[in-house]
This record gives sequence, C-alpha cells and structure tokens, in this order.
Amino acid sequence: MEGLYSIKSDVFSFGVLLLEIITGRRNAGFHRSKRAPSLLAYALQLWNEGKALELMDPLLIDSCCRDEFLRYIHIGLLCVQEDANDRPTMSHVVVMLKNETVTLSQPQRVAFSVGRFTDHYDIGSHDSVNGLLVSNIGPR
Ligand SMILES: *[C@@H]1O[C@H](CO)[C@@H](O)[C@H](O)[C@H]1NC(C)=O
Repeated sequence: MEGLYSIKSDVFSFGVLLLEIITGRRNAGFHRSKRAPSLLAYALQLWNEGKALELMDPLLIDSCCRDEFLRYIHIGLLCVQEDANDRPTMSHVVVMLKNETVTLSQPQRVAFSVGRFTDHYDIGSHDSVNGLLVSNIGPR
C-alpha cells in the first residue's frame, strides 16, 4: 500500500492472479458496488456470506469440484490480505496448494483495491494504491 516492495509483494500478485484465473474475471476495472469496488473485495464479501461458489468461472463448473474451488478462493484471499504480515510466504502457499489437509486461517481484510479505478467510484487520493503490480499483469 505504501509502495514498498517486499517478499510478500509476489504473494499478493500471485493471489490476484489465482483469483482471476479461477473466477474468470479481471481485477483491473472490476467494480460491482461501493462495498465491492474490486474483485478482491467482492470475493471476500461473497466468501464471508458463504456464497463464494457464485464466483466460479462457468467454464470450470464441469471440471472443478466445489471443495477444490473454495480452497483455492480461500488461498487466494489469504494472499491478498491488506497487511503483508498476514499473507503467507510463497513456500507456504505451495504447501497449502499441494496438501489439502493443511488447515487454512481465516482471511482478514483484503487490500482495499488495486489496479485502475472505474470512473463511477469516487475515491480519495490518499487511498491511491500501488497499481503497478497488477496492472502490468495480463493473464489473458
Ligand atoms: C499434509 O499436512 C498434514 C497436516 O499438516 C501432515 O500431517 C501431512 O504429513 C502432510 N502431507 C504431506 C504429503 O505433506
């Protein structure tokens, strides 16, 4: 958020990418509502409401089981938490992805928003965040 690069910056980028891949949506330019101004915030909102399955990319429905999808959403949310200290290390992410029996902690607040803001979302300049990490990633 302060433009500081750390070992957890990669984890954050990975989390965004993971969420984008399994939901089939881009984080940049995503705006659902004031409460959900980014894909990350929207994913956390649905997760907290127990409705994360709604996020599943329709193309995955036949090939990905629900538990697997929910676990990946969970891991993605852990990676994009606002406080870098709460994010797992990349090596722990690998462990979580490989071993289904590893229990996951509850995701806390996700980084407020990343990427470009849409016109209709009015946001103070103090909330401007490091969009570089994400806006340079083009998964599709
Ligand atoms: C998976 O995690 C569980 C619990 O942490 C552990 O007991 C088990 O040995 C792990 N399995 C592998 C293959 O690493």
